[in-house]
Amino acid sequence: MNDITQFSSGISILEISYVFASVLFILGLKMLSHPLSARRGNILAAIGMVLAIIATIFLHQKDEKPIGNIGLILAAIFVGTAIGWIIARRVKMTAMPQLVSLFNGMGGAAAALISIMEFPHISQELIAKSGMANGQVLAILLGLMIGTVSWAGSMVAFGKLDGWIGDMRIKAMKYVNLAILTVLIGFIVFIMTRNVQASIELMPFIYIMFAVAVIYGVLFVMPIGGADMPVVISLLNSFTGVAAAMGGFLYNNQAMLTGGILVGSAGTILTILMCRAMNRSLINVIIGVFGGGGQTNSTEAGSVKEISLSDAAVLLSYSRKVVIVPGYGLAVAQAQHICHDLDKLLEEKGVEVKYAIHPVAGRMPGHMNVLLAEADVPYEQLVESDEINPDLPNTDVLVVIGANDVVNPAAEDDPSSPIYGMPIIKARDAKNIIVMKRGMGKGYAAIENMLFFNDKTRMLFGDAKGTLQNLVNEVKSL
Ligand code: TAP
Repeated sequence: MNDITQFSSGISILEISYVFASVLFILGLKMLSHPLSARRGNILAAIGMVLAIIATIFLHQKDEKPIGNIGLILAAIFVGTAIGWIIARRVKMTAMPQLVSLFNGMGGAAAALISIMEFPHISQELIAKSGMANGQVLAILLGLMIGTVSWAGSMVAFGKLDGWIGDMRIKAMKYVNLAILTVLIGFIVFIMTRNVQASIELMPFIYIMFAVAVIYGVLFVMPIGGADMPVVISLLNSFTGVAAAMGGFLYNNQAMLTGGILVGSAGTILTILMCRAMNRSLINVIIGVFGGGGQTNSTEAGSVKEISLSDAAVLLSYSRKVVIVPGYGLAVAQAQHICHDLDKLLEEKGVEVKYAIHPVAGRMPGHMNVLLAEADVPYEQLVESDEINPDLPNTDVLVVIGANDVVNPAAEDDPSSPIYGMPIIKARDAKNIIVMKRGMGKGYAAIENMLFFNDKTRMLFGDAKGTLQNLVNEVKSL
C-alpha cells in the first residue's frame, strides 16, 4: 500500500453521496431527540449509512483503481447483517442495554483493527518528510487507544449488565488507572518520536499498546457499578464515536468522519447530562472511581403496610392529582399499555395524571420515554424529575410502578450509601404513596429503600401487569 493520504476520493459522485449521507445522519440524530419522530430518524440515519457503504464499495478508488475483493466485502456484510438482524429481533426490550454495549464494543474493536492494520502501511515518503510525528500517526494511535478501551470496557459493561460480572473494588484503583492512562499516553509520545525508516519496525510497540489499552478498558469499568452504569455506558459510546472519527480522518472519508463526530459528540453530551443527573464528576468516571453496589446500609428497616386493590382504586379515583413513577419493573412486566389504560380511566374521572421520568430509570437512556411512547402515552404527560419534584407536595397519590433506586431517599439521607448525591424523584413528599412491585426485591444498586417503610407508603404486591389489570377492573367497577 502506498501513502494512505493517497486514497483518492476522485469521483465527485462519491463526495456528493458522502454529503447526502452526512445530512441524513444529522437529520436522523435531530429526529431522535423526540419520541414521536425517533423511529423515522432512525430509518433516515440507516438510509444514510447504506448510501455511504454502497458509495464507498462501488465508487471509492485507491491509486485510481476501484477497491478489490468486492465479493468478500459483500459476503462479510451479508453475514454481519444476518447476525445483527437475528440478535436485534430476538432481544427482549429489557436486554437492550446489554445489546447496545455489545454493538458499541464492536464499533470500538473495528476502529482499533483499522489502526493495527494501517500502522505498518504508513508511507515511507511521509515518514521521510515529517518523521513519525504527523497527523496520520496520531490519528492511528488515538484510534487504537480509544477504540480498544471502548471495546474492552463495553465487553465488561455487557457482562455487568447481564449479571455475570460483579464489581471489583480496590482502594488503590484510582492510582492504578491513572498510571495506566499515563503509560498509554507515554506510548503515543514514544512512538511518535521514534526515528525509523518504516513504521513496521514499531509494530511490537503497537501490540503492547493494544494490550495495555485492553487492561485499562477492563479496569476502568470493573469498579463502576450500581446506579452509576448509565454514565459509563454513554462515555463508552462517545469513545467509539471518536475512534471511528479517527478512521474517517485517516481514510479522508467524510461520511465516516461525520458519523464518528456525531456519535462522539452526542455521547459526550449524554455523558455530561448523565453525570449531572447522577451528581458525579466526569474525571472520576474516566478513572473509574465512583459508585458501587451491593452494600446494604439499612439497619432496622421496620415493617411495610399493604393496601388492597379496592382501597387503591378508591384512593386513586377520588384524587385530584396523581403522579406515576415508572421504573425498570414496568419494562420487565411489559405493563406500559395497561398502565396507560389506567391513566386514561383516571383522567376520564377528572383526575390529572402525570408521569415522573427519572433520567436513569430503567436500564438505558430514555428507557421510560421509549416504553411509554410505545403505549402512546402523550409526550406532554411526561415530566422530568427535577421539574415535577416541586409539585409533589400537592400530589394526592404518587404511584411507583417497578421503580426503586430512582425514588430511594438514601440518595439524600445516607452519606455512606453508594447512591448518595444522586438526584431522585422525591416520592416521599407526596401526600400518599402506593408502591407496586412483586416483593421486597432490591433495585439495581442492591440497597434497601426506606421509602417502602414510610408512614405514607402502602405496598401493592404482585407483577406490575397483573396488578395494573386488576386495578383497572376495580376502578371501572366503582
Ligand atoms: P430498579 O432500581 O432497578 O428497581 C426495579 C424494581 O422493579 C425492583 O426493585 C423490582 O422489585 C421491581 N420489579 C422487577 N420486576 C417487576 C415486575 N415484573 N413487576 C413489578 N415490579 C418489578 O429500577 P429503577 O428505579 O428504574 O432504577 C434504575 C436503576 O438501574 C438505577 O440504579 C440506574 O442507575 C440503573 N441503570 C440504569 C441505566 C440507564 S441508562 N437507565 C443503565 C444501567 C443501570 P421486586 O423484585 O420486588 O419486584
